[in-house]
Amino acid sequence: MTFTATVQPAGRSFNIEPDEPVLQAAIRQGVGLPYGCKDGACGSCKSRLLEGRVVHGAHQSKALSADEEAAGMMLTCCAVPQTDVVIEARSVPGAGQFAVRKMPSRVLSITRPAPDVAVLTMQLPANDPLRYHAGQYIEFILRDGARRSYSMANAPHTQTDKPAIELHLRHMPGGLFTDHVFGAMKEKDILRVEGPFGSFFLREDSPKPIVLLASGTGFAPIKAIIEHLQFKASTRSVTLYWGCRSKADLYLHDWALAAAQQMPNLRYVPVLSEPRADDAWTGRTGLVHRAVMADWPDLSGHQVYACGAPIMVESAQRDLVAQCGLPADEFYADSFTSEADKH
Ligand SMILES: Cc1cc2nc3c(=O)[nH]c(=O)nc-3n(C[C@H](O)[C@H](O)[C@H](O)COP(=O)(O)OP(=O)(O)OC[C@H]3O[C@@H](n4cnc5c(N)ncnc54)[C@H](O)[C@@H]3O)c2cc1C
Ligand code: FES
Repeated sequence: MTFTATVQPAGRSFNIEPDEPVLQAAIRQGVGLPYGCKDGACGSCKSRLLEGRVVHGAHQSKALSADEEAAGMMLTCCAVPQTDVVIEARSVPGAGQFAVRKMPSRVLSITRPAPDVAVLTMQLPANDPLRYHAGQYIEFILRDGARRSYSMANAPHTQTDKPAIELHLRHMPGGLFTDHVFGAMKEKDILRVEGPFGSFFLREDSPKPIVLLASGTGFAPIKAIIEHLQFKASTRSVTLYWGCRSKADLYLHDWALAAAQQMPNLRYVPVLSEPRADDAWTGRTGLVHRAVMADWPDLSGHQVYACGAPIMVESAQRDLVAQCGLPADEFYADSFTSEADKH
């Protein structure tokens, strides 16, 4: 039986097929809801169930605890309606703007700018270029049907007559996909991709100053956002914090320095958590979100875009809202969850 979901306060309704999770139906019909991992791990899709009944598929209690569920909260990515439902959720204008589609992609190049980071350039079909918002991601569809998500590191305007996406991948030893990327993958290999996905992208209708917060390869979508701001000649004030362990992990340090030189409104603050003696590091140290808190004790008029390790995203969300007065709905994030976070 097909059910109807209505999203409040927007008042938008859409259909849900039997056994279909709410989010999947929303994406299919271009309805913009907040989400990240689509797999019960990150909590970005947490919404309130106002009316009706859902059954949750497997998910992490960190994303939705039993108490939260009992109090009427739900994860749209793994909630399957048993009746018509009414949901209270932030609507994300533009999240469903570009149709999600599957396409083949070909490895144009693989480089290793840091020991555990690969930059993949994937060629896409030229006849119908991929359209996306700076900050969104694609999924590789692997042979066994498993999927892995990676954020575009180049801005949408770069999809010209030779469309290609740049992806930054951190090697997770023992990982299904990144073991392959750091092992057997070679140029000209063909992989299936699907996208664009995600509600982590620049909100362009706001004039507020921006804090960009990246850890590790969380820099990928942040780079796309910077390229986009530069392309649009935005005059919004932007401060980029990029946290890594040691200097070698800041794999595009020179790119970020050059961007800050070209954009008078961009300031770049690299932060190392474990600088090595031979780094001769004189810059900031410690946890990257703590550097933001030290510089911006009052974030009540800002937007923050955070991306990377789940622990960084969680800590930033909690501490910037509770201690720096950042409005909860001005925190935008993608948490790079993996299989390690789902068991
Ligand atoms: C929205 C989104 C965007 C993302 N964008 C990026 C990006 O731009 N760049 C990037 O580097 N990453 C990104 N990620 C993470 C990425 O999708 C993958 O999760 C990551 O690359 C690991 O994939 P993998 O197949 O190599 O490892 P997985 O197979 O997912 O394994 C990850 C780790 O967990 C361990 N593991 C596997 N199975 C288990 C188990 N059952 N129990 C315990 N441990 C287990 C593995 O040994 C490995 O160390 C993103 C994730 C999301 C959700
Ligand atoms: S928990 Fe639903 S999108 Fe991540």
